[in-house]
Amino acid sequence: MFFNQQSEIEILKFPMPDLDLPQRQAIDALMLTGFWYRALPADRVHRNQLYKATLLEIPLVIGRDRLGHPFALRDACPHRGMPLNCGRFDGENLECGYHGWQFDVHDGQCQLIPSLTADQHLKVDRIYAGSYPCEEQDSFIWVFIPDPGPPGAGFSAPAEAPEAAPQIEKFSAKYKSAYLQAEMPVSIDHGIIGLMDPAHGPFVHQAWWWRTQHSIHKKKKNFEPIPNGFRMSAHTPSSNSAPYKLLRLYADADSITTTIDFVLPNVRTETIRAGKYWFSSLTTVTPISRSHCRIDVVAVWNLFRWVPFVPDVLKFVFAKFVEQDRRTMELQAEGLQHNPHLMLIDDADRPAKWYFQLKAAHLESKRTGVPMKHPVAGPVTLQWRS
Ligand code: FES
Ligand SMILES: [Fe+2]
Repeated sequence: MFFNQQSEIEILKFPMPDLDLPQRQAIDALMLTGFWYRALPADRVHRNQLYKATLLEIPLVIGRDRLGHPFALRDACPHRGMPLNCGRFDGENLECGYHGWQFDVHDGQCQLIPSLTADQHLKVDRIYAGSYPCEEQDSFIWVFIPDPGPPGAGFSAPAEAPEAAPQIEKFSAKYKSAYLQAEMPVSIDHGIIGLMDPAHGPFVHQAWWWRTQHSIHKKKKNFEPIPNGFRMSAHTPSSNSAPYKLLRLYADADSITTTIDFVLPNVRTETIRAGKYWFSSLTTVTPISRSHCRIDVVAVWNLFRWVPFVPDVLKFVFAKFVEQDRRTMELQAEGLQHNPHLMLIDDADRPAKWYFQLKAAHLESKRTGVPMKHPVAGPVTLQWRS
């Protein structure tokens, strides 16, 4: 029988969408390189000390030099692979614990090989320990993970980051800040779509002062494409929660606007403005390994700066939310162990679909060199009940 292979492939690649059926989704858990990632909270990294961290399954040793500048090296000596975190650090150079090779912590360049005799002329400065661009920004040490180099590379100076690490937008000189972390035993993809999922609120985050299953109602939100992501446009947030009612009263503002952006690979920013008061947060879901991620929330605000206890209450509420999400994903991980089919439905899961489409479009653009084709064509209104 004649078999037209070409058209068969086309059909597989472009299945006719059946709009009333949920869309099956394969989760690839692919971790994107070429981006900045949060590694460790800045206040836990002290001068002249070494710390271990893992990003995208890459073992890192992180520290601060004697001036306080942070650095990140691959946690494996280029000689015979000894973890560098077991070495000695004098605030400038890191000495491997096995044969004493010394490396500059900022660019990884080898400074000394103690076993060389005076007439052995090995070019020590051509040897590098893997080193990563590293920056301190808004309470975190960020590390830039470049695209993997060609096989056999390893004698080269570190890659440069094309731009600075993401920053939290602030709207006044004085503000308070706090951070929260939670580790989740799920892939980066589940971590991210869990973060942008609007339908779980009434079930996972139930509380008398927030919302209950009985307060579920229809929501309509406007979204628009932004470079590498999408934005939930400024609007007055759900009025069915006590904190927002309180905020409107306190700020004496007619309107409260919130904007929520998601951009690849993993950044969610939220800005709330009410008159001269504002709250801004930057949340990231960081891939530790294929099956583990970590959520880091940093919030900055000028609200309630002078009212005692309020920042503590805010922190408590935030921590509770993150813990509820963490616990949910821990339970979800049990179900995911057996590789179930998953589905995404409209409109509540549309942001999740966009996330997967953005990721695919980003990878395609990298492969072809052609500018990314944005999966969100223009402004769109989504509706769901939550
Ligand atoms: S393994 Fe590091 S110096 Fe030999
Ligand atoms: Fe949540």
